[in-house]
Amino acid sequence: MIYLDNAATSWPKPEAVYAAIDKAGREQAGNPGRSGHALSLAAGRVVEDARLAVASLLDLSHPERLVFTLNATDALNLALFGFLQPGDHVVTDSLGHNSLTRPLAALETAGVAVTKVPSDPVNGVDPQEIKRSIRPATRLIAVTHVSNVAGTVNPLPEIQAVARAAGIRLLVDASQSAGCRPLPAGVDLLAFPGHKALLGPQGTGALFTGPEIELRPLRFGGTGSFSESATQPSIFPDRYESGTANTPGLAGLAAGARFLQSRGLAAVAAEEARLANILWTGLADIRGVQLYGPPPGPERAGVVSFRIAGAPPADVAAILDQSFGIAVRAGLHCAPDAHRTLGTLAGGTVRASLGPLNSEAELEVFVTAVAGIARELS
Ligand code: ALA
Repeated sequence: MIYLDNAATSWPKPEAVYAAIDKAGREQAGNPGRSGHALSLAAGRVVEDARLAVASLLDLSHPERLVFTLNATDALNLALFGFLQPGDHVVTDSLGHNSLTRPLAALETAGVAVTKVPSDPVNGVDPQEIKRSIRPATRLIAVTHVSNVAGTVNPLPEIQAVARAAGIRLLVDASQSAGCRPLPAGVDLLAFPGHKALLGPQGTGALFTGPEIELRPLRFGGTGSFSESATQPSIFPDRYESGTANTPGLAGLAAGARFLQSRGLAAVAAEEARLANILWTGLADIRGVQLYGPPPGPERAGVVSFRIAGAPPADVAAILDQSFGIAVRAGLHCAPDAHRTLGTLAGGTVRASLGPLNSEAELEVFVTAVAGIARELS
């Protein structure tokens, strides 16, 4: 199989990830941070090791402020519901995934005002448009880093400058960037999954909360700490990590982070851009193929969306799967706003998304397969 659905979840994982999950299940299998016996202590070390490995890879100071969650959606919910209150105003972009837009829509019904600034499919959102949308009640700018549909990269440093100048907090959905490109330093709230570019297993994710930001917890319960108290502990990460952790998942996540650290994020990003450019150029040469999002460039993200004239994206994906053994994702990718922005809301696109274990040879097979389908169907 040729797997080009890494924006949904990365596969395969490095061997070290599988080995770490297996080891955690067999040898580090107590409840982390609860009991005093060897298995529990070993599990506790796994969780804290994962925190340090991810924080080190992503250059996050204050690792204790990295809270593990179920996935990026869970992290975004914690950030949004934990930070915003009725009467607040949020500015967001129009490339968001439902994991950002649906919690915002739910908050709107609870009295939070939301302004959605139109984004450009190639260049992303204009920071000056964000600036113009700021009101006295604006407390948060919440943006996508890299679009999961077209690989559009929002200009985060400029958006961050606007937020800082206005004294407004910045939340970044780094679902398609954490683990495959360096992230700007000092983002106030950074949400990301562990199972995509960080190469960990599903069921892992995290929210980093910068210093001086207070969040209300969304889940309450046992933390293995301050057990005599009837209320939630005040310290990070305990305040937000009630219940038993996903120790095997975090063991795998730590191994994924170390794999990436050994390659270096800048090198991972450069290789992804190289492959994305090859993919884009190959597809662009096919008659009947229309591509969406940014053209090739040194920082091109490895998420490429296209359509074949006259062929429904779902049919193209099914043929790729059934006749060629190639995995892609078609449709709306849980991001209707992004498709509205691209003009592809009806039917969506076919999306090919790269990971660090894809090869140029795989892309050649893929482009040849798409060319064959385009000849047949368009
Ligand atoms: N958010 C994931 C995707 O883009 C699932 O496919």
